Amino acid sequence: MTQGSRKTRLRSQQWFDNPDNPGMTALYIERYLNYGLTREELQSGKPLIGIAQTGSDLSPCNRHHIELAKRLRAGIEAAGGIPFEFPCHPIQETGKRPTASLDRNLAYLSLVEALYGYPLDGVVLTIGCDKTTPALLMAAATVNIPAVAFSVGPMLNGWHRGKRTGSGTIVWEAREKLAAGEINYDEFMDLAASSAPSVGFCNTMGTASTMNSLAEALGMQLPGSAAIPAPYRERGQMAYATGRRIVEMVHEDLKPSDIMTREAFENAIVVNSALGGSTNAPIHLNAVARHLGVPLDNDAWQRIGHHIPLLVNMQPAGEYLGEDFHHAGGVPAVVAELMKAGLLPHPDAKTVNGRTFGENCRNAENLDGNVIRPVSDPLKSDAGFINLKGNLFDSAIMKTSVISEEFHSRYLANPDDPLAFEGKAVVFDGPEDYHDRIDDPALAIDQHSILVMRGAGPVGYPGAAEVVNMRPPDYLIKKDIHALPCIGDGRQSGTSASPSILNASPEAAVGGGLALLKTGDRIRIDLNKGSADMLVSEKELDARRSALAVAGGYAFPDHQTPWQEIQRAMVGQLAEGMVLKPATAYR
Ligand code: FES
Ligand code: MG
Repeated sequence: MTQGSRKTRLRSQQWFDNPDNPGMTALYIERYLNYGLTREELQSGKPLIGIAQTGSDLSPCNRHHIELAKRLRAGIEAAGGIPFEFPCHPIQETGKRPTASLDRNLAYLSLVEALYGYPLDGVVLTIGCDKTTPALLMAAATVNIPAVAFSVGPMLNGWHRGKRTGSGTIVWEAREKLAAGEINYDEFMDLAASSAPSVGFCNTMGTASTMNSLAEALGMQLPGSAAIPAPYRERGQMAYATGRRIVEMVHEDLKPSDIMTREAFENAIVVNSALGGSTNAPIHLNAVARHLGVPLDNDAWQRIGHHIPLLVNMQPAGEYLGEDFHHAGGVPAVVAELMKAGLLPHPDAKTVNGRTFGENCRNAENLDGNVIRPVSDPLKSDAGFINLKGNLFDSAIMKTSVISEEFHSRYLANPDDPLAFEGKAVVFDGPEDYHDRIDDPALAIDQHSILVMRGAGPVGYPGAAEVVNMRPPDYLIKKDIHALPCIGDGRQSGTSASPSILNASPEAAVGGGLALLKTGDRIRIDLNKGSADMLVSEKELDARRSALAVAGGYAFPDHQTPWQEIQRAMVGQLAEGMVLKPATAYR
């Protein structure tokens, strides 16, 4: 479509080309001339395209976007736009204390202000590390100007002594080897570092690969964009194509609300199961949906996603890493497999390239059947999440596809009741308490214990810590017991393969049932019924509730920064996306 076919003036012309108010126009425009832009450019009706830059020295996963922005700019200019690159609040998943998820809503807020308050006609969202993707999509949802997402891409595959070492996943494995005395501290560090061989985000199917893939499944990235490794030449070429395309999207007035519809979210839920996607995905997608006014909850994740098989053979659920996924065909090849089996619910959902998701993916070739399995030969069936409920919480999710053989044989082996298990609760109040006490023999943790982490939700921690996947005490690991069932009101890293019950909402800190649990109580989980309960009488629970109220409620640590206090006052629960509640009213 050509420039002339737009019916309305560009948004940026309200700032830079308003003859009715020459005084304001002059004030708006003069300072943007001071580095060499001309009046002719800024008043010519060319779209002004923001590049929301998430890369920085503090954000190494996204740092390569600083280079890639050059190709985005070239694409924008080639299509007749003017690029305006600006920084986003840094979010680094593994480096930020107390947790990077505290910053997702802060990055969201600051980007909303930038997109709303400056003369931008469209924006490229430079996504990558875990929270950068949802933060930027949420802001695009709120402001709803034409927006396209662009991944930085995963790191190259990690290798150590001829074996693939994947981000995060290798740290869990190496930690067990260290605990078992198989490796020393230096060997542990070398093993962990081997998984990070280049620029880019985590090369496993953790939260980053999940969210970048889902940004594509939502229709917000050009097809094939999510999986290209960061250093590959195709990544730079995709940047150029993305830059060109956002200019056209401005002329077409193609907005996030036209693309991220309920149908698009349902497609993304199905793709997430086929990927073996992170348990952080429901939090972030529910958040993006809330900012668009699209209804989405964890019941929908179970109903639409649970029965979908796992097709992508990537760590932590499988063997391969990001480069292999790209060589096999990436997201379009996964979607083509789903479509062949009639499992993609809405092939007609619109995407940023103007075509439908089905049109983009239908003919994509699966180039490696080991890495992307056909639906007829999946890695696991029922790879989506179960949404559990009971007197412990109203909603908590479990990813059943990562349950190991060891776990199955120990906990789910009762032939009369194959999907239920009971155990004795061992309760920890936050990650520090867990680290202090997990190896204490006085807790008498055995293979029938269930580890419970509370005080780790959006208010309790604050921001919700990735700490629910707790390793057993060293004395059990030495006896070859590598996983105990875990429950918690916090989150779990997408790179962990632990069979945990996560994101429990409401959390203990706002009066959820977990606050009433005591070490020694019995807990019953029934995956078939979708229930999770403490086996404690109503009378006893009432007594504990009263005692807790007298004590002033579940105690959590003080705020350490102003933002912690501000967010705690207005944040919602993980099941509802952990959004800033007042922000969802702005559209
Ligand atoms: Fe940044 Fe995994 S830590 S992508
Ligand atoms: Mg993470």
